[in-house]
Amino acid sequence: MKDFVSIADLPPAGIFEILNRAKQLKEEWLEGGNQPILKGKVLGMIFQKPSLRTRVSFDMAMLHLGGHALYLSPAEIGLGKRESIADVARVMSRYVDGIMARVFDHDHILQLAKYSRVPVINGLSDYNHPCQGMADLLTIWEKKGDFKGLKLAYVGDGNNVAVSLLFAATKLGMHFSVGNPPGYDLPPQALSTGRQFAQESGSQVVTTHDPVEAVAHADVVYTDTWTSMGQEVESAKRDAVFPPFQVNSNLLAHAQPEAIVMHCLPAHRGHEITHEVADGPQSVLFDQAENRLHAQKGILAILMAGS
Ligand code: CP
Ligand code: NVA
Repeated sequence: MKDFVSIADLPPAGIFEILNRAKQLKEEWLEGGNQPILKGKVLGMIFQKPSLRTRVSFDMAMLHLGGHALYLSPAEIGLGKRESIADVARVMSRYVDGIMARVFDHDHILQLAKYSRVPVINGLSDYNHPCQGMADLLTIWEKKGDFKGLKLAYVGDGNNVAVSLLFAATKLGMHFSVGNPPGYDLPPQALSTGRQFAQESGSQVVTTHDPVEAVAHADVVYTDTWTSMGQEVESAKRDAVFPPFQVNSNLLAHAQPEAIVMHCLPAHRGHEITHEVADGPQSVLFDQAENRLHAQKGILAILMAGS
């Protein structure tokens, strides 16, 4: 694996390789600190959109592993505007040892990976968010002990986070149900790929416009913002149709009593999730956010240190 672009590209064994490495690096960190396996290495981080978790957790992961991260703001590179994406990839490859990019258009990640000599990590595109998906898997593994046979319910917009979650779940044998308003479905191509993975791993994918059906007996209930970065002009229209899909106590009552609640954050309390649920006993939101750090250490170790 040269790049980390989509969970769909990895076989289940490749996903477990990252998860095992992440778990090991998390334990090592908690026991006093990581070995400097990325000493002298630099990760160039291209951001076309804002970020808290992705920016800080990659920065800290590089620091903990003995390397350095270089933050490049939207104003600095002008990806595809000031300079072609191919040339940005070619030039960056001469300076840094890895590139992490958060972009609007998923094709820009694919182009960076194509023209870069060094590994490219997808830090979120309009299509998917695989680093989030790996942190989500690590969190589910820690909280539930296994994946096979669990039911993961995603309630809300069929967006980038939902796509990575679909691939993550179906690769590892989790049942995936998605409940969303009509018109905000998962992209059909991602859905058919997810269904194929589900067939291979022995799980099921269910799509519904009924939020109660989506979360019924779920072991994991997941939601995300109704309006993603770049869709701000649609936010009033979205706020009008999404309220029945809010993750609140009434909806959560239909899941398993021990169900965990997940959200990639940033959360909008009172919109896609209530205060009561986000800050309640079933919420694992902040363990999940912490696991961005550990999951990404696993990805960085494999791509930039060789194992
Ligand atoms: N979940 C996530 O990617 O958060 P940021 O947008 O803050 O990086
Ligand atoms: N779906 C959200 C995720 C933010 C981490 C967005 O793209 O804005």
